[in-house]
Amino acid sequence: MKKASAVLLGGLATAAPVAASLTVFLDPLQRKAAAGGFVKVASVEALPDDGMPRKFSIIADRVDAWNKVPNVPIGAVYLRKSAPDQVEALNVVCPHAGCFVDFSKERKLFGCPCHNSSFALNGSVSDPKSPSPRGLDSLDVEIRNSSEVWVRFQNFVAGHGEKIPVS
Ligand code: FES
Repeated sequence: MKKASAVLLGGLATAAPVAASLTVFLDPLQRKAAAGGFVKVASVEALPDDGMPRKFSIIADRVDAWNKVPNVPIGAVYLRKSAPDQVEALNVVCPHAGCFVDFSKERKLFGCPCHNSSFALNGSVSDPKSPSPRGLDSLDVEIRNSSEVWVRFQNFVAGHGEKIPVS
């Protein structure tokens, strides 16, 4: 019994530092390049005047502790003109479990193909039976030089009722 306890305690004493160093070592792999930064996405003229959304890729540099890969897709957003001089951005990732949502122009709804969550044009949950715990994640938008749409691209943790940024 004494020997078994010593082996167990020894194993625990070894496992904790190994787990901690692995977490530190692998952390850069989990960082997103453009998290929190504004990215030029489109021109205002590229958006329909009828308020319907259009999907755009987010192209930015992907950087981690070891590599920098310039100009690669790191995500996607739906942009729409909510007023003549106002643009809204929604992350395409479903907050339930991370699938990409589609948009139906006929139904004027976003729909998730994985578990049938549906979202209104403004991103709010449309069908109360939707499993998504929150609406689609809105993103900050700036119109620069009168016509450029810049988006502060960010992913958020899936499965939570609140928007928790993925670092
Ligand atoms: S991932 Fe969208 S409803 Fe489950």
